[in-house]
Amino acid sequence: MSGYRIAVVGATGLVGQTILEVLDEHRVPVQSLVALARQGGGRTVVFRGQSIEVEPVASMDWSRVDVAFFAAGNAVSDEYAPKAALAGVTVIDKSSRFRMDPTVPLVVPEVNGDAVGDARIIASPNCSTIQLVVALAPLARRFGLERVIVSTYQAVSGTGREAVEELEQQTRRQVEGEGLGDPEVYPVPIAHNVLPYCDQFMDQDYTGEEWKLMRETSKIMDQPVRLSATAVRVPVYVGHAESVYVETREPWTLDQVRAVLSEGRSVRIVDDPARGLVPTPRDAAGTDEVWVGRIRADVHEPKGLHLFVVSDNLRRGAATNAIEIMQQLGPRWGLGGAR
Ligand SMILES: NC(=O)c1ccc[n+]([C@@H]2O[C@H](COP(=O)([O-])OP(=O)(O)OC[C@H]3O[C@@H](n4cnc5c(N)ncnc54)[C@H](OP(=O)(O)O)[C@@H]3O)[C@@H](O)[C@H]2O)c1
Repeated sequence: MSGYRIAVVGATGLVGQTILEVLDEHRVPVQSLVALARQGGGRTVVFRGQSIEVEPVASMDWSRVDVAFFAAGNAVSDEYAPKAALAGVTVIDKSSRFRMDPTVPLVVPEVNGDAVGDARIIASPNCSTIQLVVALAPLARRFGLERVIVSTYQAVSGTGREAVEELEQQTRRQVEGEGLGDPEVYPVPIAHNVLPYCDQFMDQDYTGEEWKLMRETSKIMDQPVRLSATAVRVPVYVGHAESVYVETREPWTLDQVRAVLSEGRSVRIVDDPARGLVPTPRDAAGTDEVWVGRIRADVHEPKGLHLFVVSDNLRRGAATNAIEIMQQLGPRWGLGGAR
């Protein structure tokens, strides 16, 4: 086979579009690509300079592809992923529909690539979970985890295209003296604001996004991680940031922590405050790495460590993770294995 035969469900959305970009940038061999969305309606997407007509997912003949990336929300994954898998397609699902299903592996290749096994449906974690576990896993392996407390600062692109448009419109209206207008995507304006929730409130007054971070981390790391999260939405277009407090089981020095983190695949340490080098969403946007900085010891707790962890939620937090899962499975279709 000369390359992957791929379907992208949600090809017109932010994650779907980023999948097309990353496939191209990473020079992934692609034999054919089917772009799927709610309706076709004469729309096209561009892949490697070629226009591809968007087709409705409802009429997809799944025998046309080997792999399908699902990036169209839970309802679409619920309805079509099992059908695609039954037809022999390997589904890599970006929605949260199957993430906590014990029969479905939840995979971040840097952390638990082996969990993939021979599964036909593979779940890719929440964007804020991926960057967190990429930074935590090397520390957990070396020093053990006693306790983790995370506060996120999440970009609007994590919500999807409509949220990006809402922030753009509110910002423009404000500059033009029209006021922010009525919010539609979030309950209150996001421009010039910070929302101390990213999702619906659920059990114990934690939001859905916070429960995802807490539950998914333990599943991926294959151990009960004592993690508490506060997930916050900020008026940033791309790039989630996280303030992470880690208490380890074993003692460490900051030099050891830096050495362990720098061995982590996909980790980029940016940590020289004296020279103004700290990780920010603007810098991380457009990259595939997890940027880690503000590495410092807690003032009171000898095994307490603080980190600031940033990554591009559409790339490392979605498209790149999904594509690397596919590449790891390349031998299924006679193609090269992990990168
Ligand atoms: N954004 C992130 O950072 C991020 C990170 C990790 C995971 N995710 C997950 O990835 C998925 C997509 O997110 P997004 O940010 O790309 O959203 P988005 O920009 O709003 O795009 C949604 C996509 O889904 C398609 N879609 C919606 N309803 C559909 C239906 N009934 N049938 C077929 N296609 C349908 C849309 O097609 P039309 O153009 O036809 O409406 C569009 O292509 C979600 O499950 C989200 O939770 C997002």
